[in-house]
Amino acid sequence: MEIKYDYTSVMASAVGSEHGLTEAELSEALESYSGVPRKLEELRASGGADYMNLPYDGALTESISGLVDAKRGRFENFIVVGIGGSSLGSRAVFEALSHPYHNLLPAKERGGPRMFFPDNVDPELLAGLTDTLDPAKTVINVITKSGSTAETMSNFLVLAHWLMCGPDASPADHIVATTDPEKGALRKMAREEGFQTFPVPPGVGGRFSVLSAVGLVSSAFAGIDVNRLLTGAAAMDKRIRESKPATNPALVAAIIHTQLDRKKGKRMAVFMPYAQCLRATADWFRQLWAESLGKRLSTTGDVVNTGQTPIAALGTTDQHSQIQLYAQGPNDKLITFVEVKKFRSEVRMHELYESDATSYLWGRSLGELMLDELAGTRIALTDAKRPNATIIMPVVNEETLGQLLFMLQVQTSYAGMIYGVNPYDQPGVEAGKVAAYALMGRAGFEEKLAQIRRKSAAPRLEV
Ligand code: PA5
Repeated sequence: MEIKYDYTSVMASAVGSEHGLTEAELSEALESYSGVPRKLEELRASGGADYMNLPYDGALTESISGLVDAKRGRFENFIVVGIGGSSLGSRAVFEALSHPYHNLLPAKERGGPRMFFPDNVDPELLAGLTDTLDPAKTVINVITKSGSTAETMSNFLVLAHWLMCGPDASPADHIVATTDPEKGALRKMAREEGFQTFPVPPGVGGRFSVLSAVGLVSSAFAGIDVNRLLTGAAAMDKRIRESKPATNPALVAAIIHTQLDRKKGKRMAVFMPYAQCLRATADWFRQLWAESLGKRLSTTGDVVNTGQTPIAALGTTDQHSQIQLYAQGPNDKLITFVEVKKFRSEVRMHELYESDATSYLWGRSLGELMLDELAGTRIALTDAKRPNATIIMPVVNEETLGQLLFMLQVQTSYAGMIYGVNPYDQPGVEAGKVAAYALMGRAGFEEKLAQIRRKSAAPRLEV
């Protein structure tokens, strides 16, 4: 079951040459960037793109399944404590592959714990959890590669204390720490306190870590077959490695995004699945595209200010929120739909309340309606000369999701190479982290605090 990338409607033949790529422009770009996949393979061989090797880590999945066997039946709740790349991937996999109301299912049907992903320091979010869950029946998976991100450590402190106030005064049995294998504050705490741990491989950055322990531990607890997820990713890896530039879906997608950005003014990239279960995948991709490609400097030190602004949207819901803008607002977007050919549930409309507004729906399925709405939106946008592509998934399951996640990560790496930026760092995020440490009084950040105070001495412009 292969996923496909359909780019018919990004071509000039569909949307005109002002907004779409001509055959000549596409061939020229494929020729110019034909060396990009090889360069990424060279980087991979030298340890610079270790995320590409994650699908082959059998030892990791074995140790995760050992932990799951030991704990899954004993706990009712599982809380992922992380932020950014240390949370979005776990949530994306969970939402894509679990029952949409997993947490409401009776324990027997759920087969595992209820899952929670509080990735914010909003006090109401945390208080809501501690007010409603039983600490004696809860596992916390604290995930931070650096071991010190303020939001994650704050939520961890709150939840670890809450565990200690439960019947287990020593909560090590309830805590799983996913962090750097050697360094960082969380690794030290884990050693001292005896937490079960999993590594974030040093060569794998947060937003490229979904197929490492970062995404796999929670997925396995939720009952997802993580081996099949990795099999799907490995299949995409093989396909990419064996294909020519023109048939490499990640390269074609990267070229289309970067060329439409540079040559046709498509400064925004909308990612719009027509499947509720992929909503969190859209959020995950939004971070991957934004944080990897939004860069001030090129790898040679020139100021380039690259990056398309990614937008996460959902069909059909956002047809009634966003499509007006996409169809008639500024023509500055490349829209990528995700089409799911077969839904896992079939729901048909009943023959009730005869009227013009209902009879044409009788006997039809919601899945059919979803696909027709997507087709209708695609036609309308194409007619309005809005370039759009479609990722086609035969069905959403572990294997197709593994393919999708792997393809989008490689597409991001390729786009980084085409833009000439480093997609694996995030200096703009670090600046915000440092400012937060200073404001919260962390030792070693006194000079930064003084700097911030000097700047904030000027009166605010408020009305
Ligand atoms: O993708 C990234 O690198 C970031 O989004 C990080 O995942 C995020 O900042 C959290 O960092 P850490 O895992 O160190 O807590």
